[in-house]
Amino acid sequence: MRVPVIAGNWKMNKNIVESVSLVKELRDFVRGIEGVDIVVCPPFTSLWVVKEIINGTNIHLGAQNMFWETKGAFTGETSPPMLKDVGCEYVILGHSERRQYFKETSEEVARKTEVALSVNLMPIVCVGENLEEKESGKTESIIEQEIKALFPKIDSTLAARIIIAYEPIWAIGTGRSSSSQDANLIIKFIRELFSSKYGSKIAERIRILYGGSVDTKNIDEFMNESDIDGALVGGASLNTLSFSQIVKAAKIL
Ligand code: 13P
Repeated sequence: MRVPVIAGNWKMNKNIVESVSLVKELRDFVRGIEGVDIVVCPPFTSLWVVKEIINGTNIHLGAQNMFWETKGAFTGETSPPMLKDVGCEYVILGHSERRQYFKETSEEVARKTEVALSVNLMPIVCVGENLEEKESGKTESIIEQEIKALFPKIDSTLAARIIIAYEPIWAIGTGRSSSSQDANLIIKFIRELFSSKYGSKIAERIRILYGGSVDTKNIDEFMNESDIDGALVGGASLNTLSFSQIVKAAKIL
């Protein structure tokens, strides 16, 4: 049984005061909930204060990006050990906004994924097609390229720890989510790709999330699908009531 994950990607939102008030409220709303891994990914400037508040609770900390080097002259970057130091257990990698605005390539995402796994950070690797690719029937080939780029860097002993988020770019922040059936088909396709490389036993352990306009109204549909193991939530994670309702809808116990 795969434990579902609900991860909130706050993106470039919330200053320190706002982060504190959001996560304090969330902590109270999700207190005692088990059977789902709850993750918040605030901006870098809020990681420390958020960690102070969620210490010892059922909420885990994630970052939104990192570099692959450990230390050195890389102005503006944050290293994997720095994320561990501040208390992160998860890190989002290869979000479409990073691929689009910062030109991150699938090879770079693979390098980051390898390093994240090596320091025991759980990578949430994002993949997904844009509208033009969807409309020209290229969804599967785009996903295949993004997933297969990870393989040379991922050892079979660590592969089961990867979390994938299928986030169709046209569904992000648009209020127009994928249908749960379509998302499930793509997520099954992703699992088959892992299965052909690492075997079905490992593939069955990998958690694959859906992301893109997830809200309190559609979360049940996604969670009812056979292969969807949770959600990466953007906008709705900035509101504690909606985020905690999404968490509650996802728990398996
Ligand atoms: P929205 O939930 O706001 O569509 O964002 C999805 C996302 O990009 C999460 O990483």
